[in-house]
Amino acid sequence: MKNTVIPIAGVVSLWAALFATPVTAVELTIACGAVGLERQVCIDGANRWAQQTGHSVDVIATPQSSTERLAMYQLLLRERHNTVDVFQIDVIWPGLLGEYLLDLSPYVPDSSAFFPNLMANNTVDDRLIAMPWYVDTGLLYYREDLLEQYGHPVPQTWNELEAIATDVQRGERSQNGNFWGYVWQGNDYEGLTCNVMEWLVSNNGGTVVDASGVVTLDNDRASDIIGQAASWIDTISPPAVLDYQEEDARAHFEAGNALFMRNWPYAWRLANEPESKVAGKVGVTVLPRGETGAPSGALGGWQLAVTQATRYPNLSVDLVRFLTSEGEQRRRAEFGYLPTRTALYQEAELTRDNAVFAPVGQALENVAVRPSSATGRTYKYVSRYLSGEVHEVLRGNKAAPEALASITDRIVERGLGELQRP
Ligand code: GLC
Repeated sequence: MKNTVIPIAGVVSLWAALFATPVTAVELTIACGAVGLERQVCIDGANRWAQQTGHSVDVIATPQSSTERLAMYQLLLRERHNTVDVFQIDVIWPGLLGEYLLDLSPYVPDSSAFFPNLMANNTVDDRLIAMPWYVDTGLLYYREDLLEQYGHPVPQTWNELEAIATDVQRGERSQNGNFWGYVWQGNDYEGLTCNVMEWLVSNNGGTVVDASGVVTLDNDRASDIIGQAASWIDTISPPAVLDYQEEDARAHFEAGNALFMRNWPYAWRLANEPESKVAGKVGVTVLPRGETGAPSGALGGWQLAVTQATRYPNLSVDLVRFLTSEGEQRRRAEFGYLPTRTALYQEAELTRDNAVFAPVGQALENVAVRPSSATGRTYKYVSRYLSGEVHEVLRGNKAAPEALASITDRIVERGLGELQRP
């Protein structure tokens, strides 16, 4: 018996060695974000997967602006390029890009581990077109040392922020001519849309287009807060804020030239790195509310998706599964990329010492969701009209009520939402 088994086993392994398909290492390409440390944190994750599998990953650079990144992706996806396999996509893009992306549901047996609303957001026509990677929301960063020195509390309302910013700016200007009260993202791009959504929702001013497709923007609360934000330009916010994106605001704040900054959670760790002049002097909390509203933060965040054009669907999905795994999400949380897996929020060691978890939780209670689900494929136009017209108000070229009426007309004329007058 023994004598016959051994030769057969030997023959089988010889056959396997000679004829089995050799496992050739392939190179996948992933398009990751590049804001702050994002690209490096992505490279580190991709390298871990590469080490485990023997394959390699090329991490390509993408524009920092979400608006520009969308244009790049649309070009690659529409033309069915296979040069990029895995795409990091914004929380507002599933409706826009879903048709070009692989359905991941057959590969994701543990979908209940993720926030159900994110899974729903990433499901287009019953197809799961992306896995949630991290959650983002707008936060208020402040100089703890200066609030203490000038005897001010952390502001709860936009009016308080304005008054405190005015006072501290006046005081600081005697030593620092570049000092300003509040920096944020006023450039005409997706980031301004997020700031506007936060102003609106924290003032009960609606969400531009509601879940049933009705345009709700043209209301007094909305026009008041947008008018108020315009009054900040050149009083508590530098005129340059009209060109600021996330990284510009961060650079301004980290140079020690601002009291308050609106930014996403990624800015926390960087503001406390040795290169930052304000390291150790910063606090982080929810954004202010209107006199009658509750604090809010825009729902941001990024997902990982695989193009239908990939030559390596299985490997690409495997990379996505690895990058969205519990271990990777735990590692990335340290850098301000908040998990999309619910269980990680129960880990005291993870959340306790990370100052962004508490305000993110509070902001998400009254989260400002951009109307991307309500408007689907046409969201990009809604956002473009909103940021474009509000930008004109901020520049002093238009009054807020006029801009809101014009955005509403454009949305309705293009059939992207409907009017429902009482
Ligand atoms: C952040 C958010 C994203 C948003 C973008 C706007 O990256 O996560 O959702 O669209 O900022 O600048």
